[in-house]
Amino acid sequence: MTAVTRVLVLNGPNLNRLGTREPAIYGTATLDELRSELGAAAEGVEIDLRQSNDEAELIGWLHEAVDARTPVILNPAAFTHYSYALRDAVALVTEAGIPVIEVHLSNPHAREEFRHTSVISGVATGVIAGFGFGSYRLALDHLLRLP
Ligand code: DQA
Repeated sequence: MTAVTRVLVLNGPNLNRLGTREPAIYGTATLDELRSELGAAAEGVEIDLRQSNDEAELIGWLHEAVDARTPVILNPAAFTHYSYALRDAVALVTEAGIPVIEVHLSNPHAREEFRHTSVISGVATGVIAGFGFGSYRLALDHLLRLP
């Protein structure tokens, strides 16, 4: 990787409802607030934060990350637990030598059994979970430290 100037921050299904969705688990802040927080933490770096409820759209964005060689912070949301198509798309990025950091707001391991499995983690560069927006901040810090 050359020094990072742009980061794709991709968010999966239902994360457009952050702010009102299960606030006891996910907090009351919105995706727009996350975009601002990350932007403020990364001066001079373009934070391209997107959300989709559509698996195909997320896969298309991962293909774009390969072509543009853009590092990715990915919250795959519920797709984490069963989408082999998303996993294969993440593998395309990491196999190209581009980091993909899987993040979760909550700690899925402390929740229902079905959330204990991630089909994404095995092909991600790293995983950060359980710190709310801090999970994204830690991922970004890592990417910004890359030589
Ligand atoms: C999540 C955890 C997933 O299990 C869940 O389906 C989500 C959000 C998180 O950020 O904690 O939608 O990825």
